[in-house]
Amino acid sequence: MSGCNKLTESGRRFFLGRSALAVAGAAAASTVPQASARATPALARVAYPVSRLGNLRDLKVNEPMDISYPDADSTGVLIKLGTPVEGGVGPDGDVVAFSNLCPHKGYPMFYAADDRTLNCPGHYSRFDCEKGGLQVWGHATQNLAQFRLRVDAGGDIHAEGVDELLYGRHSNVL
Ligand code: FES
Repeated sequence: MSGCNKLTESGRRFFLGRSALAVAGAAAASTVPQASARATPALARVAYPVSRLGNLRDLKVNEPMDISYPDADSTGVLIKLGTPVEGGVGPDGDVVAFSNLCPHKGYPMFYAADDRTLNCPGHYSRFDCEKGGLQVWGHATQNLAQFRLRVDAGGDIHAEGVDELLYGRHSNVL
């Protein structure tokens, strides 16, 4: 009977030990700063160049400007959308830039001003410029590469990174 009591006691200690660990784990999880959950996702570990794309004065609402980044072989568009959007910069938070090479097979895409999408003439994939290049239709298997932007005090717009792999590249800088 005393052996049985020892087993019961060791089982009780094991249970209490595990319970304490679970409580401690839950407490630790609840003290994790919420800001980390909202942190900007890390970009690929690629050294991106900083490149001036244009100036805020050059942009008209919903009229894309042709650009290239991070080099001349990677074409894209710079757009002032007119309403604050994901990844938008400038005083209105509405200036964005995307690669215009379709992530499916690299066709150059065109901008549709009526619904603010980039559209592929190859197999008709579509990407929403107001939602960070979210794919909304078609064969592509990733969202559209968005260029990370910064605006300086003089209104110059600089590209400083890319959030997805550009079509046809093993890294975003060759
Ligand atoms: Fe754009 Fe195929 S190349 S959907």
